[in-house]
Amino acid sequence: MRILIFNRRQFLTLSGIAGITVLAGSPKISFSQTGKEEKMAYTAKDYSKLIGMAGFSETLLKNHFTLYQGYVTNTNKLVEILGQMLKEGKTGTPEYAELKRRFGWEFNGMRLHEYYFENLGGKAGLDKDSALAKKMTEDFGSYEAWEKDFKATGSMRGIGWTVLYQDSVAGKLYNFWINEHDVSHPAGCNPILILDVFEHAFMIDYGLKRADYVEAFFKNIDWKAASARMK
Ligand SMILES: [Fe+2]
Repeated sequence: MRILIFNRRQFLTLSGIAGITVLAGSPKISFSQTGKEEKMAYTAKDYSKLIGMAGFSETLLKNHFTLYQGYVTNTNKLVEILGQMLKEGKTGTPEYAELKRRFGWEFNGMRLHEYYFENLGGKAGLDKDSALAKKMTEDFGSYEAWEKDFKATGSMRGIGWTVLYQDSVAGKLYNFWINEHDVSHPAGCNPILILDVFEHAFMIDYGLKRADYVEAFFKNIDWKAASARMK
């Protein structure tokens, strides 16, 4: 039996409107054939209130919202298909294994975008008396040192995410580099501030000038939303 390993583009193509047809030489499962579309596990959220945000064009944001909606759609498809395969006793197949691997990508692609959009749209700076600001000073020496580290992480070459995580065991703050969506998240940690540094997040407006995009991001952080994620 041939094992199928899909790259991102191939998966998105295969899982398009026609429904997922990922099984080679074995019974096909089409999401559209299950008749259960109404039982979607997740619904894409509306972030259109961000349109008009300084430093982010409407075109860029609308493209980004569409991309996010694709992750929600594919997460729902995988929930459905994997559930169906479990019922049908197909868990020992390479197709099941590949879709299981894929689930981390699609789910995190959905959730990380939600965190990202929800920590945008703010106008006020970080309250220096907030628990988050105090923790930044405790762990990094100052807010400025934290910001320098976060921006440096966001400026690294490559695509992915920069995430301020709080270690939920020790309480300490770290700025993490996340490759893709599904690799290198610290186990059990709490995401506080999310910056998308995939090219789609900035190239329409900034080309290769990622640092300018990061500056625009900082001008629009919703610090209240980020602070509320502290535990
Ligand atoms: Fe994105």
